[in-house]
Amino acid sequence: MEYNRIKIVRSVLVIAITAFMANIPISNLRFLSDLATTIIDASAGIANSISEYKQYDVFPPHESPEEFDFVIVGASPSGSVIANRLSEISEWNVLLLEAGGVPSLLTEIPAAVAALDRSVYNWKTEAERQKGFCSGCLHNRRLNFGHGKGLGGGSIINYMICTRGNKMDYDNWEVMGNPGWSYQDLLPYFLKMEDANVAVNDSEYRAKGGPLGVSDVYFTTKLGDVFMEAAQQAGYPYVDYNGRQQMGVSRIQGTLRNGLRSDAENSYLRSVRHRKNLKIRTEAHVTKILMTDSKEAYGVEYSKDGRMYTVLAKKEVILSAGGLNSPQILMLSGIGPRSQLQEFDIPVIEDLAVGTIMYDHLTFLGAAFLINQPVGLQVLDYALDPQTYVDFMLHRRGPITSFALEVIAFLKTNLTEQNYPAWPDIELLLVPGHLSTDFGIFFKQIFNIDDEIYNSYWKPITGKPVFTVLPVLLQPLSKGNVRLRSKNPFDTGKYTENYFSDPENLDIKRMIAGIREIQRIASQPALKKFEPRLVTTPFPGCNRFTFDSDAYWECAIRAIPASIYHQQSTCRMGPRTNKEAVVDARLRVHGIRNLRVADISIFPRPTSGHTVCPAYAIGEKAADLIKEDWKAASTEDNLDDPY
Ligand SMILES: Cc1cc2nc3c(=O)[nH]c(=O)nc-3n(C[C@H](O)[C@H](O)[C@H](O)COP(=O)(O)OP(=O)(O)OC[C@H]3O[C@@H](n4cnc5c(N)ncnc54)[C@H](O)[C@@H]3O)c2cc1C
Ligand SMILES: *[C@@H]1O[C@H](CO)[C@@H](O)[C@H](O)[C@H]1NC(C)=O
Ligand SMILES: *[C@@H]1O[C@H](CO)[C@@H](O)[C@H](O)[C@H]1NC(C)=O
Repeated sequence: MEYNRIKIVRSVLVIAITAFMANIPISNLRFLSDLATTIIDASAGIANSISEYKQYDVFPPHESPEEFDFVIVGASPSGSVIANRLSEISEWNVLLLEAGGVPSLLTEIPAAVAALDRSVYNWKTEAERQKGFCSGCLHNRRLNFGHGKGLGGGSIINYMICTRGNKMDYDNWEVMGNPGWSYQDLLPYFLKMEDANVAVNDSEYRAKGGPLGVSDVYFTTKLGDVFMEAAQQAGYPYVDYNGRQQMGVSRIQGTLRNGLRSDAENSYLRSVRHRKNLKIRTEAHVTKILMTDSKEAYGVEYSKDGRMYTVLAKKEVILSAGGLNSPQILMLSGIGPRSQLQEFDIPVIEDLAVGTIMYDHLTFLGAAFLINQPVGLQVLDYALDPQTYVDFMLHRRGPITSFALEVIAFLKTNLTEQNYPAWPDIELLLVPGHLSTDFGIFFKQIFNIDDEIYNSYWKPITGKPVFTVLPVLLQPLSKGNVRLRSKNPFDTGKYTENYFSDPENLDIKRMIAGIREIQRIASQPALKKFEPRLVTTPFPGCNRFTFDSDAYWECAIRAIPASIYHQQSTCRMGPRTNKEAVVDARLRVHGIRNLRVADISIFPRPTSGHTVCPAYAIGEKAADLIKEDWKAASTEDNLDDPY
């Protein structure tokens, strides 16, 4: 009785607010995202200022140069794993330097993910303008190029999708001249890192008890179930895509534990921060790696609280500052393409192809289907339902544990050579909503969408039941690059994507094939009941093409692309004979002693999926390589810690 009354009042409120929001100019709602950002930034400030809060950064730097065995630059997922594993050896002194701060508790709430994008936990950089690309983007047609800042790097702001990629990705790395990097070689690390809780699993490929929580998403809409069923009707088997076979469909496995985000800080750093031989220093921005004339790294320079410090590394410097920043730090230190270093008057220590290649994973935001029933995300309903908060507070379940992505599928188009039928080239991600499901508060800004196109395409469908499927190009052929913008270490790099620039135009053709596949799934009986219809409003400049023709989709994809922030391969691993290689198969920078790179910049080719879970595995593997090289594997005596 009582509850029914609440329901009625709530429904009236939902209708009133929806009607109100659907008609309000978007600029007026902007304040809500600014407010959310302000709250996150304030929580970050508190987390940083109360040093006991998580007890990081409790050892201020000394005046005279301190000395450590290992200095790790950047608390990326890989860097965090390495800090944990090297400090297992009690006679090794380890320093981890991170430019950002301590993540606050808000970053652990999955549904807060959209609000993190404009916060202090993101470097908030943009890519260079690219001709004929991103015509629907604001800010001079530049694509947002986020990457995480703070202990845990991208793992504290990302969308929490955990994919290992394909067995063939790693086998191919090995074929490219990198012994020890086949999938068989990496599997022990994928097992070591995870604490899996996945309903449909291939048990010999999965493990419990590791530091990182990996779980099926906790909350799904009815649409999620319907889409899963339709994909199965279209021939996709339900698979554990991190197990024996990647190709198929599945609920998303997230980096989640007990309804909260599992990130590199709470899984790899928090439990070991008290080790006497590990110092973790936040808001410490590394500006340069120090090297002797005989090309031996011996320390780094960094800035903290407006002062410069030098710190010495007796054994090694390990660069884990991420796909965009590791190449920048190398170049500033004199390791990079000769011509570019000379352009900026940086003395050349080693001429290497740093930053000359950058791959990224790209998606398209405009495959949106109207349906006839509200079976997807009902954001306002959830927000106004007290049960939502009860479910989260008491049980860590419900919509607050959702990050809006529910189902994932991997497929192979007929535009990739067919010798390896189990190696996908397209991924599909189901969003049971669309870019204006949040009434233009967050996603419009996150993806830098132009007002005009937002008003013509997304505004009219606001408040209506719509689902979107994101096609992701897994094995791009187009090559971008990272260059210096200036000699100033606090300046952002210059990021050029060159998306869809491969000579045979295969990248775009595969994306179009992905859209055709989405249409095929949408036409299966399970989904057909909901009468899915593509939104037909043409994207800017595309109305000269017949709607739904290949030419139309090519135009649309170029107009409304989005990076999913997997900028990788900027310090590629490969043998010295490979002109494009920067590090060898033990991750040592070619030609330099005592310097390694360990983060997603070392990927010789992209992995077929998202990059965070591979990044942890790389950290685990790198730590073992370092232990082997310093012959310390048998003396791990700090292992009484939980991990
Ligand atoms: C918004 C967003 C969503 C994403 N969604 C997913 C997803 O759903 N699933 C997935 O698998 N992946 C996702 N990713 C990608 C994933 O988070 C990254 O691949 C992962 O974090 C590893 O990246 P990295 O190795 O480049 O290092 P990063 O995570 O970028 O870490 C680099 C660290 O080094 C620090 N640093 C940089 N420069 C310096 C310096 N000069 N001195 C000191 N420290 C420095 C940075 O502050 C940062 O903490 C997403 C990324 C973003 C940004
Ligand atoms: C694998 O699935 C079984 C059955 O659902 C479950 O009991 C087990 O915990 C799962 N294992 C992992 C690692 O998730
Ligand atoms: C490739 O697949 C598309 C559908 O995505 C189909 O139209 C085309 O005929 C196929 N081509 C070949 C050579 O099989």
